[in-house]
Amino acid sequence: MKIAVISETAALETRVAATPETIKKLIGLGASVSIEAGAGKHSGIPDADFAAAGATIAGSAKDALADATAILKVRRPSEGELALMPKGALVLAIMDPYDSAEALGAMAKAGLSSFSMELMPRITRAQVMDVLSSQANLAGYRAVIDASSAYGRGMPMMMTAAGTVPAAKVFVMGAGVAGLQAIATARRLGAIVTATDVRPAAKEQVASLGAKFIAVEDEEFKQAETAAGYAKPMSAEYQAKQAALVASHIAKQDIVITTALIPGRPAPKLVSEDMVKSMRAGSVIVDLAVERGGNVALSKAGETVVTENGVSILGPLNLPGRIAASASALYAKNLFAFFETMVDKKEKTLAINWDDELVKATLLTRDGSVVHPNFQPKS
Ligand code: NAI
Repeated sequence: MKIAVISETAALETRVAATPETIKKLIGLGASVSIEAGAGKHSGIPDADFAAAGATIAGSAKDALADATAILKVRRPSEGELALMPKGALVLAIMDPYDSAEALGAMAKAGLSSFSMELMPRITRAQVMDVLSSQANLAGYRAVIDASSAYGRGMPMMMTAAGTVPAAKVFVMGAGVAGLQAIATARRLGAIVTATDVRPAAKEQVASLGAKFIAVEDEEFKQAETAAGYAKPMSAEYQAKQAALVASHIAKQDIVITTALIPGRPAPKLVSEDMVKSMRAGSVIVDLAVERGGNVALSKAGETVVTENGVSILGPLNLPGRIAASASALYAKNLFAFFETMVDKKEKTLAINWDDELVKATLLTRDGSVVHPNFQPKS
């Protein structure tokens, strides 16, 4: 078993799919590990640390990938990378499979068995493999850090001889994994925090973090959570009621962090232009959903928009990549935990149970075809 890890080539991608800790564990499974020189540079991991853990440092991606049994990546392989990957190899990555038929077809054509880590079922056994949670948690933290640094005032209340700095008012929209960490982080910084969500389960979680829950709690709200724990798209009627409630609240906020997502769909629009206009100069909005179309009317992916009334709207791309060392450490652990289930530990060989529910849920391509039922090519 040879495991290959290469440098990520996507713009702004600072993470790496293995750490010295996971390399030791992979070697413990009976694998050899080859890692491209410099792969850990942006995550603060020098080649020497990978080598000390037992990896071979390869001079190029081509050398790292030669004869690989399995390839660990952060992002879906590019065309150029696919050309270097041996037919029949496994690839584990955050594949972003939605609306990507062509790219999935290319992975099938390359003969790879590709696994999309973000499709991992959210069941107890797979919690340790849940990349959405590990990365969203860090994104929620980082969003508050970035917001507080863009905010020209203090976060906690400070009473000084020269006067009092009031505590910042932070409103978190969407209280899933990222939102809950944003709430916790803003609270630690001393802000007064409120939060909203459409799932009733979020109410108690928000309260347990010391924030106030604000939502339209009608019959539709009571039914808004799917069996998988995600939000349903809400009706136009609910959205209108939600907007009315949010509009009056937002006008009084200093920082708004939006994290609302619905799997496989564009992000719900929650903050209108008028709401942004109602905020006072110096306020900050961070739109974590910007890569999926955004929750905020004026946000732009990868940019900070400053409105005429002086509100800064941050549209960060790859927030986990802005806390790369921590994000890589957790992501590499997620990957290892899943890969470990595919290995016969006695024989020290690959032994994939293709009927395992984790394999079935995440496997996109195999033997030259796209095999995942949700991503079948349209004929
Ligand atoms: P997500 O990233 O899909 O969405 C973020 C949040 O946005 C969710 O809380 C969602 O309800 C909310 N949202 C969607 N539409 C909205 C709207 N119109 N207005 C306001 N909020 C809206 O969700 P995430 O963070 O992946 O978590 C979903 C759930 O899964 C949570 O309950 C989380 O605790 C649970 N979970 C369970 C795990 C397990 O292993 N059992 C692991 C991780 C999360």
